[in-house]
Amino acid sequence: MSIIAWTEAMSVDNPALDKDHQKLIRMINELDQSAPDFLELFNAVLDYTTGHFDREETHLDAIGFPGLDAHRVQHDDFADQVAAMLKEYRERPFDAGDTRLKDFLWSWLKGHILIEDQRYAAWTRARGG
Ligand SMILES: [Fe+2]
Repeated sequence: MSIIAWTEAMSVDNPALDKDHQKLIRMINELDQSAPDFLELFNAVLDYTTGHFDREETHLDAIGFPGLDAHRVQHDDFADQVAAMLKEYRERPFDAGDTRLKDFLWSWLKGHILIEDQRYAAWTRARGG
């Protein structure tokens, strides 16, 4: 999986949340599917992601973003999908060349930051924030 960089197009105009996103992207870039402690590293990314979701939802709640409930559903859905994949992995670890877990993180996060997170960024900008 190619390395993806954070770009201005991903900015949500909130320095703390932008930093979270940058760190997440960095962590996923560094995830090595063939590392012996891959699952541990993967779990570290998940922990950070969960913390980030909490911070983001707290922020959206604080600014009164009307799409918060729908946004929260997206976050919860991510957690459910990852849990299902992890269960599968634990039952029968994927081959080293099978990058499903990392690919999922990538595509989900990239789409989420570029599309879903941009909804609250646009809403904030429209309100002059
Ligand atoms: Fe989000």
